[in-house]
Amino acid sequence: MPFADIIIIGSGIAALSAAKQLAKQKNVMIITKSKVEDSNSMLAQGGIAAVIDKDDVWREHYRDTVVAGCYHNDQKAVKKLVKDGTCSVKKLIHEGMLFDRNEQGEFHLGQEGAHNRRRILHAGGDATGKELVQFMFKQLQEQVNIIENEMAIDLIIHDGKCIGLKTINNNDHVKKYYANHVILATGGCGSLYKVSSNNETVVGDGFSMAYRAGAELADLEFMQFHPTMLYTQGGSKGLVSEAVRGEGAFLVNNHGVKIMENVHVQKDLAPRDIVARAIHHERSLGNDVFLNISMISNFKQRFPTITALCEDAGIDITAGLIPVAPGAHFIMGGVKTNLHSETSIPGLYAVGEVACTGVHGANRLASNSLLEGIVFGENLANYILSKKSVTSIQSSTKTEYAHQKIDIELPTRFEIQEMMTSFVGIERDRKGLLYVKNWFEKYLHLGWLSTSLKEGTKEQIKTINMLSNGWLIATSALLRTESRGGHYRTDYPLSKTHWQNKQVVRQKDKELISLVEPLLGVK
Ligand code: SIN
Repeated sequence: MPFADIIIIGSGIAALSAAKQLAKQKNVMIITKSKVEDSNSMLAQGGIAAVIDKDDVWREHYRDTVVAGCYHNDQKAVKKLVKDGTCSVKKLIHEGMLFDRNEQGEFHLGQEGAHNRRRILHAGGDATGKELVQFMFKQLQEQVNIIENEMAIDLIIHDGKCIGLKTINNNDHVKKYYANHVILATGGCGSLYKVSSNNETVVGDGFSMAYRAGAELADLEFMQFHPTMLYTQGGSKGLVSEAVRGEGAFLVNNHGVKIMENVHVQKDLAPRDIVARAIHHERSLGNDVFLNISMISNFKQRFPTITALCEDAGIDITAGLIPVAPGAHFIMGGVKTNLHSETSIPGLYAVGEVACTGVHGANRLASNSLLEGIVFGENLANYILSKKSVTSIQSSTKTEYAHQKIDIELPTRFEIQEMMTSFVGIERDRKGLLYVKNWFEKYLHLGWLSTSLKEGTKEQIKTINMLSNGWLIATSALLRTESRGGHYRTDYPLSKTHWQNKQVVRQKDKELISLVEPLLGVK
């Protein structure tokens, strides 16, 4: 039967960072639902925020992280991120990772929203994620068993411990894998929304799996919308990095009015939630919004990825205006973990965007996500390596079997995205959240509240996971009666809310079950 010391689900930067360290001593397997390069990390443009400049100090990076996070952050996690972050990044540089430098040979540090100084390392201009993933991948390719095109569908729990997982392949065959340690590194869920910066495969499978297995999830109501997706012909054509505003670009509406002028002291470089809401507001008035880039003389060289995106979309950057709209980008909540990335289920870990260490609070600071993946991935690997490993595989005769198709019509991916965008988007209120929650609950009989899925093709399971995640996010958003960071309730506008300091933990607890019991017909 397929077994590894450690199985990592997902192939983004957090997965690779953990795998790189673990593979030095252990047998590691990576399982990913499409190709290894299909991750959000590959798409990351801006860079990696880290205290590298001699005049910068970790306390300032800490402060910027916590202010952007609306003081909802776990302080220990933030300290770990910013302090260990410097060491991890220096280690990468020492190993040969090439970050962009200026003519004097110094690192060319970029600036992004809510940072009070230039602190962002970037590579290939605006291709940092791609360069980093390729760099890491080269180092571990030979040492790790990589399984592509198999989607993890459920975790195997035995005596309260996670001992493996089930996958489904493109022929709808289900296979079981066993491991001493299972790491969820499945990323976030931005593609639950119509406009998103995420890879289209990223719909939060890790949340659904962990939830069905009974793990605690937290803070799912905090969804970050990136202010500037390239938006033309009624759709999004990719991300326009915040680093563009860091080089001086500013937002204008179609009347030429600078829209961030009187909104925040940091203007176009205010925290993302604030800029995204300002653009959303303009668009709701019927105005179009553009990024004025006319002051950036070397735009093509500094931002080659964005230049190519614009060319593909038929936007002439020499005219100086890029049409933009906000899109779902990053979820701050996820599977709740401690600082070692342990979840509430022994043997199961979560790292990267799927995890909620609390490091990002209610709104992530720009370019802290690749940093999170590097720091917490490496930290988790060291933690697992420090543990005495006890092999706990189960014997199983049935490791492969076919899953049956569910014989009812499921909503389309587009319908779910439509619902999420309309009712659990940049702005939400009780009425809309209740409506969408009820809509999701029409599909409860598909089994996403049970401990594992018993039927469904690969495509159907993707839809079931989208429904389950939409429901989890809508339910969490309903329960948080305040506006904070990436969770803006128009029925609790910022001017009237007092931030609640407790973290609301979502799990299969009494509160949640009581909400759905009447619909399930159980007592
Ligand atoms: C960007 O380049 O604007 C995105 C970087 C990030 O998500 O932090």
